[in-house]
Amino acid sequence: MALAFIRAAPAVRRVVFKSNVARVATLSRFFSVGSCLRYEKPESIVIDGKSYETDDWTNLPSSILKLVGRNLHLNPNHPIGILNSLVKKRFGNMGYTHYDNFKPVVSKFENFDVLGFPEDHPGRSKSDTYYINKDYLLRTHTSAHEYYCFKNCETPGYFITADVYRRDEIDKTHYPGFHQMEGARIWKKDENVIETISKDLENLPTIDIIVEDTPKSYDDKTNPKQEYMSVEEVALVSRHLKRTIEILVNEVFHLGMIASKKNRNNKKIEPLKVRWVEAYFPWTAPSWEIEVFWNGEWLECCGCGLVQQQVLINSGKNEDTIGWAFGIGLDRIAMLLFGIPDIRLFWSEDDRFLKQFKEGSVNYFKPYSKYPSSKKDISFFINSGKEKGNESERGFHDNDLYEIIREVSQEDLIENVNCIDNFVHPNGKLSKCFRITYQSMDRTLTNDEVNKIHEKIKQTLAERFDITLR
Ligand code: PHE
Repeated sequence: MALAFIRAAPAVRRVVFKSNVARVATLSRFFSVGSCLRYEKPESIVIDGKSYETDDWTNLPSSILKLVGRNLHLNPNHPIGILNSLVKKRFGNMGYTHYDNFKPVVSKFENFDVLGFPEDHPGRSKSDTYYINKDYLLRTHTSAHEYYCFKNCETPGYFITADVYRRDEIDKTHYPGFHQMEGARIWKKDENVIETISKDLENLPTIDIIVEDTPKSYDDKTNPKQEYMSVEEVALVSRHLKRTIEILVNEVFHLGMIASKKNRNNKKIEPLKVRWVEAYFPWTAPSWEIEVFWNGEWLECCGCGLVQQQVLINSGKNEDTIGWAFGIGLDRIAMLLFGIPDIRLFWSEDDRFLKQFKEGSVNYFKPYSKYPSSKKDISFFINSGKEKGNESERGFHDNDLYEIIREVSQEDLIENVNCIDNFVHPNGKLSKCFRITYQSMDRTLTNDEVNKIHEKIKQTLAERFDITLR
């Protein structure tokens, strides 16, 4: 379960090394879409009043486009907006500019190139990212704005809150649109730098928190320091980064503890327990992730690290700039703190959901109803592509099906999609079977309605891909 959280967190697309045990995140999911997609797209797409010409890279469906502009993080009475305001308040007057209004369309350059993503990085693939055309996409993370912020921000640090988009599986904790908060802070590496950062560290508020962190020497290969920083600078900047994130997660999880204790009529609040594990991101070194101990599980929450000098230079900073950055996923945390059982609820426009939350307070969600679900299977052979190849070589990726399902069922009527069978038939063709659980958040679905959607999904799949339904 912890790995699933990475996506919502979302510090995915990396390999984490934890207590000498190499844990490899789900890199196998990242393949590019092959050639058998038959998909009619408009000549241009208009987003935020700007028109973009489509091309071979376009894979942005209308079901996703309609999420753009909802701005849940700006609604003060929505769980995502409540979290955003809490953090803003906590870090007010501490030298940060808060950016809340960045538009979701960014260039490939901002989202990947400037951050040093290798050309073959899985995050760049069409199966993972919503492309508007070959040059523009829906940001997959708030780090897409680091370039702009390092260039333009006039305070020592900044925070960004925004909606981000990734093509992904369908279940209770995964949704193609979700929210992240980015933070960063820089210093000038002059003769006073040690003194300056030490002072900034002293000025950070102290909190009651239990932290597990293994002291590190910087000579190892897995998570090395950058050459241009001294060991002392790395130690101080890392300390400042880690303390800042600890303050942030303590702020939100502490309120979550109060809400959950209230919910269980139990008044005792223990200090929050967190631990630091090493991580990898193309644009930070060294890099870490914080895990928070919550309801008996370690939750991966937030990726971070010391910003690569090249990224700072690319963004117009001098060579003597040093600093840190982090990115934290808000949806999964909001689900835990507000007791929200299904991520789709965040996008609900039903008053029974929206009326339960108030600015400045974390309270438990009271489910208004659980409507009945119905399960249906869909099985098929993949015909095209290399017979013995992996999924991309076969021209079909599971995310393609998830996309069709979302598109056909427009209204978020699907709770879960599970691949329940996956085998190579003696005829060399890959056979797949998916189980779709239909369930609306707001009403009871009729059999007739479910059957129609299911048939339409099968038909669309067969039209767009070189597959044979079984
Ligand atoms: N953008 C990263 C993610 O989405 C998180 C991150 C931000 C990591 C900044 C390091 C620095 O997973």
